[in-house]
Amino acid sequence: MSFDTIIRGGTVATASDTFQCDVGIAGGRIAALGADLGTAKDVVDARGKLVLPGGIDSHVHLSQPSGPGIVMADDFASGTQAAAFGGNTMVLPFAMQQKGQSLREVVKQYHAKADGQCYVDVSFHLIITDTTESVLGQELPALVNDGYTSFKVFMTYEGMALSDIEMLNVMAVARETGALVMVHAENYDAIRFLTDRLERAGKTAPHFHGTSRPIAVEREATHRAIALSEIVDVPIMIVHVSNREAMEEIRRAQQRGLKIYGETCPQYLVLTAGDMEGLNMEGAKYVCSPPPRDHASQVACWEGMQQGVFSLFSSDHCPFRYDDPQGKLTPKGRTSFRWVPNGIPGVETRLPILFSEGVGKGRISLNEFVALTATNHAKTYGLYPKKGTIAVGSDADIAIWDPEREVTISQSLMHGGADYTPYEGIAVKGWPVSTMVRGIFVVRDGELVGKVGAGTYVARERSPLAKPIAKSAWE
Ligand code: URP
Ligand code: ZN
Ligand code: ZN
Repeated sequence: MSFDTIIRGGTVATASDTFQCDVGIAGGRIAALGADLGTAKDVVDARGKLVLPGGIDSHVHLSQPSGPGIVMADDFASGTQAAAFGGNTMVLPFAMQQKGQSLREVVKQYHAKADGQCYVDVSFHLIITDTTESVLGQELPALVNDGYTSFKVFMTYEGMALSDIEMLNVMAVARETGALVMVHAENYDAIRFLTDRLERAGKTAPHFHGTSRPIAVEREATHRAIALSEIVDVPIMIVHVSNREAMEEIRRAQQRGLKIYGETCPQYLVLTAGDMEGLNMEGAKYVCSPPPRDHASQVACWEGMQQGVFSLFSSDHCPFRYDDPQGKLTPKGRTSFRWVPNGIPGVETRLPILFSEGVGKGRISLNEFVALTATNHAKTYGLYPKKGTIAVGSDADIAIWDPEREVTISQSLMHGGADYTPYEGIAVKGWPVSTMVRGIFVVRDGELVGKVGAGTYVARERSPLAKPIAKSAWE
C-alpha cells in the first residue's frame, strides 16, 4: 500500500487504548496502523512523541457580534490559526441569531465569515434568540436536516435570554428533529437584581461581576433547565459548568436516568474569582460567565470530569482585546463590570492546560484526556468516527505532542487576536508541536505551514445522544 505520509515511531493514544505504532495516511484519511508500513512521500519522525487525535473544541465564539462598540478579537482566520497551534483540528463556533433575523440568513452570514478563512475544520452550532413560529416550525427543522444538528439557548443576557416557555418550545423542536440543545444556565432576573443593587452601591469594579452571578444563580438555572428537559423528555448539554452545586444537579439527574450531559472549561480549573480583583480594570481580563469561582469549585470540576459527570472539556473561547476601545478596558467609555464584554480567550491553551494539570499531575489518564478533548466532542455532536479518533478510515486529524516540553504560557506565544491571555505565567509540561488536518500539516514543528482556507465546513449527523425517544404523555 502506498501512503502520502507515515508518522513513525510515536505513541498513539485514543480514548480507549495506548499503543506504539506507525500511522499511514493516504488521501487525507488514516489508511493503516501498524509496524513496518514501508515508505511514503513524507515520513515524520515521532519517536518520543505522542500521536493523538486532534483536539475538537466544541465551544468557541468567533466573529460574533457583541454589542455596539465591542468587537470580538478573533475572526475565523485568527481563531482557527490559534486553534491549530493549540493542537486542535476542528472547532465548533456559534452562528448567532439576532432578534428578528431569519435563521437561514444567520447561517448565510456565518458562512460568509468562515468560508475560505479557516485553518482547521469547522462546523456551526446555532444560537436561538427569537423563537418565532417560522423559526421553530420551519427554519430550525430544515436546518437540522441540513447538518446544523445542535443549538444553544441562553437563560441570561439582555436580548438573548429565553423564558421558560420559549425554552420548552425550543426543546420540543429538538425532540422532534433529533437535535441536541446546549444550555447556558444562569438566572437572568437574579443577575439583573444583583447588578442593579451593586451599581447603586457604587460597587462597579470588575470583581463585582462575580458577586452579581453567585453560585446560586447557576445552580437554580441548572436545576430548572434539567426540569424543563425532563418535562419535554429531551437530552440537553449544560455548558461551561463552574462549580460543585451545578455539577451535583447534573449528577443527580444522570443518576435518575435523565439524559443530561455536562461540559466544563479551563477557566474553572485554574482561575478563581480572585483573578478578577486586579488593580484598576485588570480584573476585566478574567470576566466571563459563569465567573471563575474558588478552589473548592476547581476540585469539583476535576471530580466532574473524573467521574464522567462532565463528558466535554471545551475552551468557551470568547476573546476580546483588553487595551482597546472595542474591548474590555473601557467598554463604551464606561468602567462598570456591567459593560465589560463577557468571555476570555482560550482555544490555544485548553489542551496544554488539561494535559499538564490533568495527565501530568495524575488526575486523569491520557485516554481520558483524549476522550474529554476530542472523542467525546465528535460523539456528542455527530462527527464520530470521521473525527475524534485515530482509526483506519477516520480523517487524519492528528496532533503530535512533545510530552516533555516545558512551557510558561505567555501572550508572546499566542497566535490569536487577543492582546492578553488569562493564563499568563502558568507553567505547563507537554505541548502540541505539530497539527495535521485531513493529512495536511497546518503547524509543523511549531511553524505555521498550513494555508488559510484549508480548513473546511463539516455538516454534521444528528447526535447519537439525541436519538428520537418514545412518545411523551403530552404528544
Ligand atoms: O463569558 C462567556 N462565557 N462568554 C461567552 C458566551 C457564552 O455564554 O458562552
Ligand atoms: Zn454561555
Ligand atoms: Zn460560550
